[in-house]
Amino acid sequence: MTTTPMPEFPAGFRWGVATSAYQIEGAATTDGRGRSIWDTFAHTAGRIADGSTGDEACDHYHRYAEDAALLAGLGVSAYRFSIAWPRIQPDGTGPANPAGLDFYDRLVDALLDAGVDPVATLFHWDLPQALEDAGGWLHRDTAARFAEYADLVAARLGDRVKLWIPLNEPFIHMSLGHGMGVHAPGRMLLFDAFPVAHHQLLGHGLAVAALRAHGTAPVAIANNYSPVRLAGDTDADRAAGAAYHALHNRLFTDPLLGLGYPEELGLDPALVRDGDLDVIAAPLDALGVNYYNPTGIRAAEEGSPLPFEIVPLTGYPRTAFDWPVAPDGLRDLLLGLHDTYGDALPPIQITESGCAYHDGPDGQGRVDDPERIAYLDGHIRAVREAMDAGVEVTGYFVWSLLDNWEWAEGFTKRFGLVHVDYATQRRTPKSSYAWFRDRVIRR
Ligand code: FCB
Repeated sequence: MTTTPMPEFPAGFRWGVATSAYQIEGAATTDGRGRSIWDTFAHTAGRIADGSTGDEACDHYHRYAEDAALLAGLGVSAYRFSIAWPRIQPDGTGPANPAGLDFYDRLVDALLDAGVDPVATLFHWDLPQALEDAGGWLHRDTAARFAEYADLVAARLGDRVKLWIPLNEPFIHMSLGHGMGVHAPGRMLLFDAFPVAHHQLLGHGLAVAALRAHGTAPVAIANNYSPVRLAGDTDADRAAGAAYHALHNRLFTDPLLGLGYPEELGLDPALVRDGDLDVIAAPLDALGVNYYNPTGIRAAEEGSPLPFEIVPLTGYPRTAFDWPVAPDGLRDLLLGLHDTYGDALPPIQITESGCAYHDGPDGQGRVDDPERIAYLDGHIRAVREAMDAGVEVTGYFVWSLLDNWEWAEGFTKRFGLVHVDYATQRRTPKSSYAWFRDRVIRR
């Protein structure tokens, strides 16, 4: 970390933190919540590193008021949370479960009372299991179901939510959930997972229309991006890099911004019906960028089922997830989006940025996390550099407010500005919490 003061950001720049429902809420069967694909997956032996589930997680469902107070104490102007579809429609269709909507109603009001803008994600990967049983995102009908769910949520919360994010990281949900079997629902389809891309995007576009019908709040999407770092300089390495870039960084963004699907990915044209691309390219008010690290790529071995090979990047510090710490990747990514999409690019908000370390309390009960401070310091400066070079960035959300249940990694990865003791649910702000408040937000 450098000791130079943090550069200035424009007045009104949105500093926030982010979470998602299954990772923090717990209360898995409370108030009529249905089962999601993550309940099923987490309860399947061998899927989660420490054998844990999100049944209790951070018990945020019952402790949301305490968590809203932590947000107020942090001084953020916005909080990005996700709504659990199976709380609203336990089986993914039909009328809303009033108790499910009531919970988010209480949460949104608690945020507004705390002076924090509610930013709501509608789908952070917890598809109702009943919809999965009917084909899930491989099935076109799920897109229409998603828009109905968006309509129910917006009818109740549309007067108070300040930014809607229909989808979180459709690329990760497609690739890890349906391509590689690492996330729920655990399918291993490789490139046969492309229908999951198209149907999520179609669902997104239909949901944008449903949300706009209920108010004037802006609408975005939160995409995961990872700039490619070539680990070789042959033509084959460069072709592999371009293939990975098309898959990870362009598959979702090109059609969202009106360019259609990257041709080189060879999506089955029968998937895309007349009018779909117009629905998907519905204008967005912001582009959410989730960034964690760049990806090392080289040419694949003969006979590989993939047109690239992912290789570990050397020469960077690493997080507890073994991800390289590379703030320059965030700057390059933002500059790349600006160069590639030009005037078609909406203003960007960094909707997730953060890191896992093995944080724990010392003898005095303090949780010191200097690596997280260094990580955030570097990444926030990288955003400023991109802004200086002409990229419009209007917000930055740290992942995450709380240590939480990190998907296939269970409780083994701590991403929070606030430490959570899972045995007692005690929350302890880490030193990064005070740093973010004093050095970044309230300067
Ligand atoms: C992102 C997810 C988020 C969290 C972070 C570490 O891909 O959107 O839920 O798991 O990674």
